[in-house]
Amino acid sequence: MKIAVLPGDGIGPEIMAQALRVLDVFKKEGMAIETEQGMLGGGAVDATGSPYPEATQKLARESDAVLLGAVGGPQWDNLPRPQRPERGLLGIRKDLNLFANLRPAILYPELANASSLKPEIVSGLDILIVRELTGDIYFGEPRGISVEDGKRVGRNTMIYNEDEIRRIGRVAFDAARKRSKKVCSIDKMNVLETTQLWRDVMIELSAEYPDVELSHMLVDNAAMQLVRNPKQFDVVVTGNIFGDILSDEASMLTGSIGMLPSASLDENNKGMYEPSHGSAPDIAGKNLANPLATILSVAMMMRYTFNDEASATRIETAVKKVLADGLRTGDIYEPGTKKVSCSEMGDAVVAAL
Ligand code: NAD
Ligand code: IPM
Ligand code: MN
Repeated sequence: MKIAVLPGDGIGPEIMAQALRVLDVFKKEGMAIETEQGMLGGGAVDATGSPYPEATQKLARESDAVLLGAVGGPQWDNLPRPQRPERGLLGIRKDLNLFANLRPAILYPELANASSLKPEIVSGLDILIVRELTGDIYFGEPRGISVEDGKRVGRNTMIYNEDEIRRIGRVAFDAARKRSKKVCSIDKMNVLETTQLWRDVMIELSAEYPDVELSHMLVDNAAMQLVRNPKQFDVVVTGNIFGDILSDEASMLTGSIGMLPSASLDENNKGMYEPSHGSAPDIAGKNLANPLATILSVAMMMRYTFNDEASATRIETAVKKVLADGLRTGDIYEPGTKKVSCSEMGDAVVAAL
């Protein structure tokens, strides 16, 4: 199993170091894992002029999976857009055809008090957000800022074709079959034609899944329902931009965005695994970041790309154990628990494994 390791920027290298220690445990036990490091994001721009350099493209294409830290930072925010770190991230997603982004928002019971909502509202929470990742307003043309009639005009295009909607719909329905057989599709069909098509295709597709219950919700209501009564949701399927926003919102229900892993998959379950959060420039270089989202992303890699449920569960069980032992990074700390650094959290997970 060849894994491309892309630490990225900000806290990326710190959280990646802990994830690699977890992989090392499996390597030492004889699992055939080969890792090779590459550059993506701001560091890659500084070194090569491109946020997704050719060497990384080659490495990513020939690997079975990609493990990513995070990219971006204020020092790159004023570069021309093609050189921005975020463009590198969108580039690798598109290049590898990683159209299905799975973001599970699970509340570990020990973190009920770290959530911004009351414990009774979030206890037992287990939502799977299925976000389309290679279409929508993120990639639609035309786009850009131009001058028209002497005024600057900014433009992006929200666009989906029916095939793109159907294939992400299938991912959601298939996932629901392994869970509680409920899918909620989120759109804005009252205003946006693109998402009217989204709803129409989801309804057509549901005929192939008579055992799964499909419901629909408008995105503004969904944002509200996520904080009012999040446990009404099981599998949620939505487009790229709505999924970006709703998954950050859902992360807070679980205590911190530092807990939310993600998998981005192609048709053959080749995948890129990364925490849902960013490079956290405000805490970078201080050994303060929560590495658990990245470590849990390794678990998702075992599950989805390597088909190794036992190793995935083992990593998740180790994370549960360190939380049960009371260890907390700053983002999930509460009085009565033990505050630890990023690397100490890594130590604890390795020991628990
Ligand atoms: P962010 O997710 O980086 O940070 C938001 C807040 O959450 C910050 O206060 C940060 O300290 C905290 N946080 C995030 N991850 C944490 C962790 N593991 N442990 C503890 N606290 C954590 O979002 P932002 O500040 O909006 O973006 C910063 C940069 O990251 C931007 O350049 C953005 O484009 C980029 N970004 C990258 C990715 C990615 O690589 N997948 C995702 C989101 C944002
Ligand atoms: C995410 C991030 C990215 C996105 C950015 C950094 C391009 O916010 O992975 O959620 O918007 O998809
Ligand atoms: Mn995001």
